[in-house]
Amino acid sequence: MVLTPLTDSVAGKAMLRVYDGAQKGATAFFRNRPLLETLMELLEQRQGRPLRILFHAGSIGAEVYSFVVYALRTGLADRCPMEIYTTDLNPQFLRFAEEACYPAEVLNSFSEEERNWFERVEDGVVRPVEAVRRRVWFLPACSFVDAVPPEGEVFDVVFILNALTYVTPDQQAECLQNVARYNTDLLVACAFHPDTIRRDLLANGYVPITTRIAEIHNSWTERIRSGELPPPESPDYSWVIPPFSEVPEFEFRFCSIFQRTDSRQPMPTGA
Ligand SMILES: C[S@@+](CC[C@H](N)C(=O)[O-])C[C@H]1O[C@@H](n2cnc3c(N)ncnc32)[C@H](O)[C@@H]1O
Repeated sequence: MVLTPLTDSVAGKAMLRVYDGAQKGATAFFRNRPLLETLMELLEQRQGRPLRILFHAGSIGAEVYSFVVYALRTGLADRCPMEIYTTDLNPQFLRFAEEACYPAEVLNSFSEEERNWFERVEDGVVRPVEAVRRRVWFLPACSFVDAVPPEGEVFDVVFILNALTYVTPDQQAECLQNVARYNTDLLVACAFHPDTIRRDLLANGYVPITTRIAEIHNSWTERIRSGELPPPESPDYSWVIPPFSEVPEFEFRFCSIFQRTDSRQPMPTGA
């Protein structure tokens, strides 16, 4: 099956949508710029320590390539050795990500500087330049719920963005317990089950990093609705979010960056 991403503009973002009959892979380049900027600042504070970074649910690659562009343009990728990996449940999305050919319309929502990191492949098709592409390693397809890296492998930063909504609250709890076994520092996550996220994070030693929390939350523009929200029984309950406000537990419900408090050690198996 050939995946042809459809592009449409939602709240000022060029969304790429792929669907292969099983998973929905809606994604976008530079989907949340304040989040990318904040991560660059936080990782800069690691003062050149080598970083291993894993993107779960990476879809067709826009998210991981956006991160690499920011790491290159800020110079972080030169100051700090980085190994960057991506995976997804869907092997077809991963193959697409590796090929990295995107409709040229994606460029319309980029700044001029961001556009410089892309090249034309043929009429109507663009891709990130080689300096960006070669930074990314592709892992076999796997689920973030029960992914098990080879014995002893850990990741300083793990991303699970816009994807926990596709599993049940129980699977979210299982996922975070599992991730904490191989994630040593930052967890970057959103579109999770909001009523249980605080419990799941605290149970596994994660606390929120609230730097620019309101700006980052409000930049998930394609998920924000003013007015009435879907009820808890709706499949959209964990997807749709209201504009930022200091509701109870907002530091967890509306946050996208979390840190392991015992950040030097992965959680032991069976904890
Ligand atoms: C809405 S897209 C989000 C893509 C990207 N993370 C982003 O934020 O732009 C959801 C992605 O999650 C993937 N996915 C769904 N369930 C998954 C699971 N259990 N494990 C890994 N990936 C999953 C889908 O294949 C799809 O690529």
